[in-house]
Amino acid sequence: MAILLAGGCGYIGSHTAVELIQAGYEVVIADNLSNSSAKVIDRLFSITGVHIPFYEIDVCDRVGLEQVFQQHKIEAVIHFAALKSISESVELPVLYYRNNLDAVLSLIEVMNQFSCKRFVFSSSATVYGDATPPCVETMPTALPTNPYGRTKLMTEQILSDVALADKDFSVVLLRYFNPIGAHESGLIGEAPSGVPANLFPYLTQVAAGERAYLNIYGDDYPTVDGTGVRDYIHVCDLAAGHVYALDYAAQHTGVEIFNLGLGFGYSVRQVVAAFERVVGIPIPTRIAPRRAGDIAESFSNPAKAQQVLGWKAKRNMDDMCRDAWRWQKMNPHGYAD
Ligand code: NAD
Ligand code: WQD
Repeated sequence: MAILLAGGCGYIGSHTAVELIQAGYEVVIADNLSNSSAKVIDRLFSITGVHIPFYEIDVCDRVGLEQVFQQHKIEAVIHFAALKSISESVELPVLYYRNNLDAVLSLIEVMNQFSCKRFVFSSSATVYGDATPPCVETMPTALPTNPYGRTKLMTEQILSDVALADKDFSVVLLRYFNPIGAHESGLIGEAPSGVPANLFPYLTQVAAGERAYLNIYGDDYPTVDGTGVRDYIHVCDLAAGHVYALDYAAQHTGVEIFNLGLGFGYSVRQVVAAFERVVGIPIPTRIAPRRAGDIAESFSNPAKAQQVLGWKAKRNMDDMCRDAWRWQKMNPHGYAD
């Protein structure tokens, strides 16, 4: 019995593959490499000693998916496969709706063909909108302000409807906050193409001398020091949460939502200060105008995942800085090296 990681060559999927294998699961990866590299499979072998079956397919393609399910007895799917650039989603909404929604619909259809009834989905804190933190799962969702975020909320709704229609279906919606860092080996990590939109990969590129300075998008927010506050969680802790989610989905049907976060926030300035302290490299910064669509503060209440799943993040900001920097130093050009 195997777990299919749709989009498993990506940042979070690859780290989840490690956690699953180390927890004794058999893993299969399907990925079209639209935002990753097949080198990840070799890196995962180096870390785990396991040759993971890899299918370079578009998960929107049902025929390709069917071949995977014919080759392997898939007992559950963890769905990471999505396009995730907010700015690109605003420019190319149809690409995002087509990719992100067709992917989940194709997965559900093929899963039904093969009586696979367990689905874990990579959702996002973005579905909380600008709710006053701490965010809890019972809070009403808000229509996200961009097509990417809307595909996340729509996918949650699609999966909820499927679970309503099929009482044997089990869905776990994991609402990720801000995953950062990398596996301690430095062999897998976040490899954004082009100019990083997210804070942490941009920060590590400044430290590496690839960028001259970090733009701080706004210092006039109603926060501890005026800069944006987010709930950063180590990607390995986030990945471990999927093991707990899978176990939960095996024992329950219906839909369950869990926040995966630390439960408190760091401001941009606090992140920069922590990084400079841990890594010992000064980070030049400049105050820039607020970024459109940004909210002041977002962080989770992760109590439900702790109480119901038994999951709790173990790593702190120093670990995230140290591990992200190791990945950056070992792979200055991501997987292109
Ligand atoms: P990523 O881009 O590194 O990984 C996504 C993977 O999916 C990539 O390997 C890409 O090649 C693949 N993919 C995309 N469309 C596909 C398709 N149609 N068929 C096959 N493969 C496809 O992104 P990530 O940071 O690992 O995020 C994984 C998931 O978690 C995404 O769904 C993302 O929306 C969600 N998420 C990410 C964050 C974050 O901050 N990274 C936060 C919340 C939610
Ligand atoms: C964090 C903070 C910025 C870059 C996004 C998506 C979300 C999810 C995670 C996919 C904010 C500030 C950033 C920079 C800065 N992705 N910042 N200078 O915006 O919380 O979440 O990624 O699901 O959906 O919205 O993360 O890392 O972009 O920003 O000052 O160069 O850092 O303003 O306060 P965000 P981020």
